[in-house]
Amino acid sequence: MAHQLAAMLVLLLASPAAMRAAAAAGAGACAGEKFPAGRTYAACEDLPSLGAALHWTYDASKSSLSVAFVAAPAGTGGWVAWGLNPTGEGMAGTQALVALKGSSSSAPTVKTYNITGYVPLGGASTPIAFPATDLAADEGSGGKIRLYGKLQLHKGMKSVNQVWQVGSSVTGGAPDKHAFGPANLASKAKLVVVGSKATATSPASEPAPAPMAGGPSPSAGSDSGASSSVAPTAGKNAATAAAVSAPALAVVALVGFLAIV
Ligand SMILES: *[C@@H]1O[C@H](CO)[C@@H](O)[C@H](O)[C@H]1NC(C)=O
Repeated sequence: MAHQLAAMLVLLLASPAAMRAAAAAGAGACAGEKFPAGRTYAACEDLPSLGAALHWTYDASKSSLSVAFVAAPAGTGGWVAWGLNPTGEGMAGTQALVALKGSSSSAPTVKTYNITGYVPLGGASTPIAFPATDLAADEGSGGKIRLYGKLQLHKGMKSVNQVWQVGSSVTGGAPDKHAFGPANLASKAKLVVVGSKATATSPASEPAPAPMAGGPSPSAGSDSGASSSVAPTAGKNAATAAAVSAPALAVVALVGFLAIV
């Protein structure tokens, strides 16, 4: 009986949802980013192009999304940008936050732009559809710029297209045109804010340990029926898999195993 329980526990912890949560919380390069004190985010995601990453916390009760976008500009004195596009997938329609380094030695300045198409941007911010507060930027390691902000999303928004970009120069306080290489054109993805582990009900706190954040709750029910008939050896295999891809999970599984045995 103890063995069966242990096997079940291991299976629960190694469930796909828990594994995904562990991967999202700890596996990517973004997890190594060290922000200044007071800036913590519930989740991070290495974005699929331009070496960029997004860190975020979503407060569902306020529909408020706190982000830190990290990317290296295409040249020293360049700019990095990240935004949400509620009306399309590409650049046109993007409600963007742009951090411009320029030639100044001070911290990059942040501006907002309602990007209507491939037209040059001016030196002044334009209003965007998501009220933006707490805008700031600093310089991270490796010449990266870290762009911070908080966006007021529309109520009930669950997933939204995100678009990002980097450029090499700034003229008159405005971002110059970026390159149009494959990586520049591939810089878009979907950001899922509700139902993801990044959903937080309180202000940003330390990232939760992986196994707790993903929560075995919904998958626990569906997995438990099958696991009662699984032999302990199968459970050991699952434990090995967990150990390879998620050491944290394996530790929890081991503690659970010892507690039961
Ligand atoms: C952004 O620009 C589009 C196109 O000109 C316009 O329809 C929209 O109202 C603008 N959004 C904001 C928030 O000003």
